Amino acid sequence: MFRLILPFFLVPFFLFCSVSTFSSSEVAAEKAARRIADLIVSRKGEKTVLGLATGSTMIPVYQELKKIIQKEKIDLKAVVTFNLDEYLDIPLSHPESYHSFMHTHLFNELFAYGLKSQNIHIPCGSTWEGYEEKIKKEGPIDLQLLGIGRNGHIGFAEPGVSPFSRTMIVDLAESTREDNARFFNGRLELVPRRAVSMGIATILEAKEIILLAFGENKAKAVQEAIRGAISSQVPATFLQKHPKVDFYLDAKAAEGLKQEKIRCFTNARLLIDHQFVEGELWTEGGKVAAKSSRSADEVIDMGGKMLAPGLIDLQINGAFGCDFSRNPEKLEKVASQLAQFGVTTFFPTIVSSSPERYQELLTQLQPDRFDGKKAANAGIHLEGPFFCPKRVGAHFMEHLVIAATPLEEVYGDIQGVQIITLAPELPGMEELIFDLKKRGIVVAAGHSSATFQEMKKAIKEGVTFATHLFNAMTPYHHREPGIVGAALIDPQIAYTVIADGNHLAPETVAMSYKCNPEGLILVTDATEALGRSEGVYRLGPLEIDCLEEALYVRGTNTLAGSKLSLDKAVKRLCEYTECSKAFALEAASLKPAIVSGLYPIKGTFTIGADADFVAFSEDLSIEATYIGAEKVWEAILE
Ligand code: F6R
Repeated sequence: MFRLILPFFLVPFFLFCSVSTFSSSEVAAEKAARRIADLIVSRKGEKTVLGLATGSTMIPVYQELKKIIQKEKIDLKAVVTFNLDEYLDIPLSHPESYHSFMHTHLFNELFAYGLKSQNIHIPCGSTWEGYEEKIKKEGPIDLQLLGIGRNGHIGFAEPGVSPFSRTMIVDLAESTREDNARFFNGRLELVPRRAVSMGIATILEAKEIILLAFGENKAKAVQEAIRGAISSQVPATFLQKHPKVDFYLDAKAAEGLKQEKIRCFTNARLLIDHQFVEGELWTEGGKVAAKSSRSADEVIDMGGKMLAPGLIDLQINGAFGCDFSRNPEKLEKVASQLAQFGVTTFFPTIVSSSPERYQELLTQLQPDRFDGKKAANAGIHLEGPFFCPKRVGAHFMEHLVIAATPLEEVYGDIQGVQIITLAPELPGMEELIFDLKKRGIVVAAGHSSATFQEMKKAIKEGVTFATHLFNAMTPYHHREPGIVGAALIDPQIAYTVIADGNHLAPETVAMSYKCNPEGLILVTDATEALGRSEGVYRLGPLEIDCLEEALYVRGTNTLAGSKLSLDKAVKRLCEYTECSKAFALEAASLKPAIVSGLYPIKGTFTIGADADFVAFSEDLSIEATYIGAEKVWEAILE
């Protein structure tokens, strides 16, 4: 059994979100108001905590709510409210402040029904720091109302926000300022640049959420929020992690959710829960779906083939003559060719670089969903530069940073980064790891001289896995087992291996498998030489020689990445360990999805996951690769 511990954020979820499309925004607003009123009444005088939003969408909701309260004389003595956000740098008395908005559109008429001003909470410049504590004290929020920005923001949690964010000061996105200029006589220069807002983690703690969206200009954001891959770039997609969220839409906002193509892949053997199960796979609009009551638009007979979730490479420096640390502009081209190896998701990896170079690379390698026909870039893997000089491997010594240094000084803006490999024993790493975890970044240990105890401590601090076990780390010693010992003794610890026959002896892979099969994950550490013949290539600043299957830093015997493809690694793992095909395939799909935070959107056939999958023949050769249920690559059969 695979027993990696899932951080709370990765705990599997099922899509409990419901979508209601109403004939008009007025009807939707009425329904939302009714639900709030019913909730208050059902409490029979016990406390009701409401999370409130502002913006044009909320105006009809509040109008209806006032009507109901007045008509039914609902007692509001026990109602406590928390608003999502407030502008900074304008006075609270400004007609467009959210304090003014809430009083004008709701509160002023509710005091007569028992609403107490001390029960109203709206964050602002002077109170935001205590806001979380207040919510904690009074909360949890029973029902949170949300609008959505055209850029997918909720509250003022803008694109790029961390899923772990809490009440914070934010710089408003330019797109938000442009949209909100409508409230400031169309004058962009009058729209504040900063705001205070609840964070994503705060919002997700509400027991129930209703998101309202009206009008065609919300259609795209709504579609992304419900159907898109979870990403900081569209903050509302984090709502997919919430167990009870209801979307109240008018027809125009629901436009992007119109019926999508339903496909049924029949006569397949599906890799589910560590084994192949005969059955059929249903997909709808690029996602795995439940068997539909409507008949499929397309039925595809898979001829009894094994279907596994698309392969996920946590560590790939490049391929097909593109080194991500040198030619990031070719990323999309590489992505379009990875499907031939069964790879549908990857983490472009960059070697230790200078601060200036990091800035350029990070800008160009930002995660993107491309056009749906290419492997998805799920986020950048920064391999370095916090490395132990003794374990420099094929990194450039001058670029190493050997003690904690503010992240921004080293990398610049780390938006889009999903994984960082570092040496946890370096001075100050405890705080650094803490900081990275707070930002939602997965931390791996590698290029390290950590002792067994240091690695155990690092795991407690938040290190999730060991990068290319055995390579670029202190070798196992019978009196000092180091990272290797720490990873192999504990089934809760994950570790990656490069099973190319060069980085590790086959027996080393077999031994690792025997000690800790649950933790074993395959990566390629491929370089631009993947898909190319022998010759001289580059890995960041270093030249590398490609001799047959092995790569070395020019003129040395230091291994420098590989030209291994992930499907080949799967085959090798089977050969080296005699593990089952299901096991080897999960080591390159389910497990990397879990450690990287992509599960359950990737690496699984769970309902709601992206329908990325690979059809394999009995000898584990790839017959076809599908991304979003579309065939993107097929083997040419002789
Ligand atoms: C709410 C908030 C925003 C708005 C969103 C939509 O307090 O800060 O998330 O809900 O910008 O605004 P409208 O409804 O005006 O389109």
